[in-house]
Amino acid sequence: MSQGKFITFEGGEGVGKSTQISLLARRLQQRGINCIQTREPGGSPKAEAVRELLLSGTVERMGIPPSGEAVLFAAARADHVDTKIRPALKSGQWVLCDRFMDSTRIYQGENTDVSEDLVNILERLAIDGVRPDLTFILDLRAEIGMARANKRRAEGEMADRFEREALAVHENRRNAFLHLAHNDPDRCKVIDASQSIEDIAYDIWQIVERELIDPEQGASPSQVANNTDANTKG
Ligand code: TYD
Repeated sequence: MSQGKFITFEGGEGVGKSTQISLLARRLQQRGINCIQTREPGGSPKAEAVRELLLSGTVERMGIPPSGEAVLFAAARADHVDTKIRPALKSGQWVLCDRFMDSTRIYQGENTDVSEDLVNILERLAIDGVRPDLTFILDLRAEIGMARANKRRAEGEMADRFEREALAVHENRRNAFLHLAHNDPDRCKVIDASQSIEDIAYDIWQIVERELIDPEQGASPSQVANNTDANTKG
């Protein structure tokens, strides 16, 4: 049994990661590739409990600074990696994860006094060698992403701890994600998230197929016939 592939999705608020993860999961399953979908912060019971503390603003209200938040994100990640991601990959399943280590680098490491050294140490401890094979950075102007995120939120529901931050902070994060991708082009692929859902899915699929799918593992003829729509960019 060969090891599964690990794909992460990153970007600002409202860029459409979860939609694209579901579409990619369906496409992989049609190719006979077994995959799981997960998210951060969270993804395992203990990490979901930490998620609630972080996103509700409880941690911030306790006066815990961004460096403390970074430690909590890393603690949640370590459990998620140990109990869910690594076992799935070992069993041959592919893992599609909504946010991972790059979110800590950008959200906790930029516009704060958290040092790069601390981010690096926490990353090493939390991921413990489980690095993504591919990372899609869904790129969108922060103004558009925030408008989408606001619209998506049910009426009366509060914005989470990070969504409440100023537009300029979100725009800085967008630039920081682009910079990160520029420095790690083999792993990080920037996708124009202002396109239609179908076109974004097409771009993602082309890269996954080219980079990660063994041609020997080709689809059966009936699967090919069923999937021709996903091979055409609309
Ligand atoms: P979520 O509701 O999952 O939002 P999104 O759809 O934008 O992914 O909230 C996750 C929030 O947590 C998001 O604002 C980014 C933030 N975050 C960090 O600050 N650091 C991290 O390491 C991770 C994984 C997420």
